[in-house]
Amino acid sequence: MIRLLCLLLLCNIFLAEIHVLNIYYTASSKAKNNTEFELVLDIDGNVLGSCDHEILKTNYDWGKKMLNDYREVHEFYTVQCFQILPRFFDYKISSVRKDTSQPEGVHIFQRIDRCNFDEDTGEVDSSMRFGYDGEDFLELDLDKLSWVALSPQAAQTKRTWETEIVELHFYKELLTYKCPLWLKISLDYGKSVLRRTDLPSVSLLQKTPSSPIRCHATGFYPYRAHLFWRKDGQETHEDVEHGDILPNDDGSFQMMTDLNVSSINIEDWRRFDCVFHLSSAADKVIIKLDKSVIKTNYGRAHQKTAPIVATVLVFGAVAIAVGIFAVCKIKKKRTDHRTFGILTNSSSQEASF
Ligand SMILES: *[C@@H]1O[C@H](CO)[C@@H](O)[C@H](O)[C@H]1NC(C)=O
Ligand SMILES: *[C@@H]1O[C@H](CO)[C@@H](O)[C@H](O)[C@H]1NC(C)=O
Repeated sequence: MIRLLCLLLLCNIFLAEIHVLNIYYTASSKAKNNTEFELVLDIDGNVLGSCDHEILKTNYDWGKKMLNDYREVHEFYTVQCFQILPRFFDYKISSVRKDTSQPEGVHIFQRIDRCNFDEDTGEVDSSMRFGYDGEDFLELDLDKLSWVALSPQAAQTKRTWETEIVELHFYKELLTYKCPLWLKISLDYGKSVLRRTDLPSVSLLQKTPSSPIRCHATGFYPYRAHLFWRKDGQETHEDVEHGDILPNDDGSFQMMTDLNVSSINIEDWRRFDCVFHLSSAADKVIIKLDKSVIKTNYGRAHQKTAPIVATVLVFGAVAIAVGIFAVCKIKKKRTDHRTFGILTNSSSQEASF
């Protein structure tokens, strides 16, 4: 039934493909102790590996092979992680602490290096940003090779760092040359993972009869996707609220969009459907707004199985109703690990990410 209502259109016409490599650095100063730091490498939401001052980890076999084939990449990370970065962050934290006249203690320093690569145009777009104690701090202006202070606190540090010309040139080389190069190499080695396209399972959920109807897509990859409601075949934004794209534990993504149906007549429901569209491909998943496909916890026994229960009652076989209810429960359970949080409490779902 549900399968019939979901139309899977599989046409492999690929549209614009943008990939992004993020390098996350996090360092924390311990009172009277060395700075601890970690570097995490991520492409399009897939964590490739990480390192700290003594260990370099790769999460995929192709990542290991790549580091083996490209010794200069391997060397870059081992030298950076094992020797340079621990001292670098130690020095940066203490200098920022002085610039901002803060006492010693625990401070957190973050840096994100990012490069986007557009496979259609070959265009590269890179950035570098520092954060201090959880606040945006400085951002690199790659054209002017200067720093942009993102908080008043950063003004002095901006002046200090702009005298470090060698460092600025190192960043420029890293962002405009190394980062996109490693991204392209990784896309080649890791194509089975990084170039995969997975369509999600899409379902309609409703907490109570007066709640909006949530269209929930989970299990898709890559994350550039569009989920929207249509009325008479046209995208509609009326009474619609969009959610963010969130990561799942297995490397796929989920998102949702709510349709407030309180002012929509039940006869008009058939004019609506929810569409999932993966932006890297023309693949679509469409689910029609229909009471029979909405999953809900509210009054589940009579709402989901109402027609069946009526028939069963004619034959006076209550025992069969219990059996059907059990089957529905088991069927539901299969999807519950994904939808449980949404069906019960949306705030707990947010907390789990
Ligand atoms: C620094 O921390 C490490 C463990 O994180 C500990 O073994 C060491 O004793 C500490 N050193 C000082 C001077 O506190
Ligand atoms: C849905 O729309 C009605 C008015 O049409 C409004 O009163 C209600 O608050 C809305 N519900 C949500 C959850 O936004």
